[in-house]
Formats: sequence, C-alpha cells, structure tokens
Amino acid sequence: MKSLVIGGNGFIGTNLVEELLASGHQVRVFDRYPSRYKEPFPQAEYVIGDLGNHGEVHEAVEGIDWVFHLAYTTLPQTSNDDPVYDVRSNLADTVQLLQECRDSKVKKVVFISSGGTVYGVPTQVPIPEDHIQQPICSYGITKLAIEKYLSLFQRLWGLEYVVVRLSNPYGEQQNPHSKQGAIGVFLGNIAEGKPITIWGDGEVVRDYIYISDAVTALVRAAEYQPAADSPRVFNIGAGCGYSLNQIVEELRAVVDVPVVVRYTPGRAVDVPRSVLDIKLARQILGWSPQVELKEGLARSWRWVKSLNLA
Ligand SMILES: NC(=O)c1ccc[n+]([C@@H]2O[C@H](COP(=O)([O-])OP(=O)(O)OC[C@H]3O[C@@H](n4cnc5c(N)ncnc54)[C@H](O)[C@@H]3O)[C@@H](O)[C@H]2O)c1
Repeated sequence: MKSLVIGGNGFIGTNLVEELLASGHQVRVFDRYPSRYKEPFPQAEYVIGDLGNHGEVHEAVEGIDWVFHLAYTTLPQTSNDDPVYDVRSNLADTVQLLQECRDSKVKKVVFISSGGTVYGVPTQVPIPEDHIQQPICSYGITKLAIEKYLSLFQRLWGLEYVVVRLSNPYGEQQNPHSKQGAIGVFLGNIAEGKPITIWGDGEVVRDYIYISDAVTALVRAAEYQPAADSPRVFNIGAGCGYSLNQIVEELRAVVDVPVVVRYTPGRAVDVPRSVLDIKLARQILGWSPQVELKEGLARSWRWVKSLNLA
C-alpha cells in the first residue's frame, strides 16, 4: 500500500513512518517542518507543505491508498485562546483534505482524534466510545467535528475511514520541550537537572500508552475492512490509569539521577480522571497494548539521555 502521512515528521508521525516502512509499505510524508530528532528515512518520499495549501494537498494525495491524518495546529490547553484559528486550520482544512481524498479515490483515511478531550469530564471510567461527548476545549470540539465529517463523507461518497481516539502517548521522538506530553517533558527536565513542575496536586489520572503500541494500532486501523454497519471509531490507550504522582514514582525507579518535584495551581482544561475502555479495539481490530509502563519509561529515558540535553 502507498501511504501518505500528514504530520509525518512529528512525534507520532516519525514513529508511524518507521513502522510502515518496516512493514514494507511505500510512504510519502507531508509536513510543514522536517523531523526534529530523526534524519529522513531514505526509503520515504518527503514533501514539505501545509495542510492549508490546497494545491499542495491536491498533489500530495495523488496515487495514495491510505491517508494518515496526524497534523494539528493546536493543543488542548492552547485551543481556547483562538477557537477561530482552531476551526480554520484544523476543521476547515481537514474537510478540504477529505474532498481531495474522495476525488482521488483514497481507500482509507485514518484520523487521530483525542481520547482525552472528546468526552469532556467523564461520568464513567474507563470511558467507552459511546460515552457522552461534551468537550471542554475547542481542540476536543474540532476533533469531534472532524469525526462527524468523516462519517458524513463515508455515508455520502463511500470514503472509508477509521478514527483512533488516542489517549496519552509517550516514547521516542516526543519533544521534551513541548507544552504537551507529561512523561516526555518530565524526562527532559530530569535529563537537564531541572525540577519537574506538576499543575495541581498530582492526582490527575491519565492513560499513558507507549508509542510503538499507538502506531501499531494506527496500522491495524488502516488494514481493517469495516462492513457497512461496523464500528469505525476506536479508543486506543493502555486501558489503565496512573496519577502524575505515581508516574513520578515510576520515573524515580527508572532514572539514575535525583528527581525534584514542584507543584503549581491546576489548569481548567485538565479533567480529573481519564482512562479509556479499549475493549472494542481488542475485539474488532485484534489489537492490544504490549509494552508495560516500566519498560516504556526505561526505553524513553534511554532515548532522552541520547539527546545529551544537560
Ligand atoms: N501527543 C499527544 O499527546 C496526542 C494525544 C492524542 C492525540 N494526538 C494527536 O495526534 C496527532 C499527532 O500528534 P503529535 O504528538 O505527533 O504532534 P507533533 O506536533 O509532534 O506532530 C504534528 C506534526 O504535524 C505537523 N503539522 C501541523 N500542522 C500542519 C499543517 N497545517 N500542515 C502540515 N503539517 C502540519 C507539524 O509540523 C508536526 O510535525 C495530532 O493530531 C494530535 O492532535 C496527540
């Protein structure tokens, strides 16, 4: 299969491209920037472009079987600052992309949605896919709206898709200086000899999934051939939760240096507890997470140390 990975030079994208190439697929990467930490893969084709440039997107989807849409211009915590920008650069440009995919007869669109934001404040944990969806940030609303457009394009024009509602991925290629991704940022702080900052009391619980498990799920999603009334939206996570305080304790057991923690006031976008129910993905995609937290943290720490941040 020939895949287009939009946002393929980011954290998840770089890992996905590696996995697709290892499985023998042809890959075209479309991103506005090169990969931060990884040299280009010689077997992949790279296109530098912007999802907002419709001519570039038109050319990028030509001859493509699977489109993985990973590009996003906002984060949960920044999206409420400028919802119009969120709608224009994510929702509107994605609908434009879907039109191009439809016209180019793309076989499958795999979209990464957000298991941490589309449900809003959970009333039930672990959260199943049919839990009420009431996002408390613009990012969650645009992700959900894109899910609805995918469903519309499938219904009207037969464009096949799978939505992956991803929890909190961590691992190699995760930017330790990002505003997102607690484990990556904590590991970066530790490697730089700085204290870790925790917003709130550290009792916020999240579902952390190691990156290789996340990209395997994305490939399974692309391979999946849904019947007309089969599910197309899947939670992907570890299916178990850890508080930030527990993560810090796990990190202490993995890293070989002291870990200092500083607490600051909590943030409005943080729901208290988010753990995904992953039964549907296990049953229908035949996927399950393989890497335990301890092992994932050890691999991530080895990678962060290799960056020589200190
Ligand atoms: N990392 C997480 O914690 C997490 C959790 C759930 C869902 N997601 C989603 O997964 C996807 C990938 O996330 P990531 O962590 O790899 O992010 P990332 O920022 O590391 O990678 C995103 C890539 O998309 C590119 N990009 C952004 N806007 C673009 C545009 N308009 N045109 C072309 N390229 C563009 C960026 O240059 C970047 O390389 C995103 O849709 C994100 O919302 C991430």
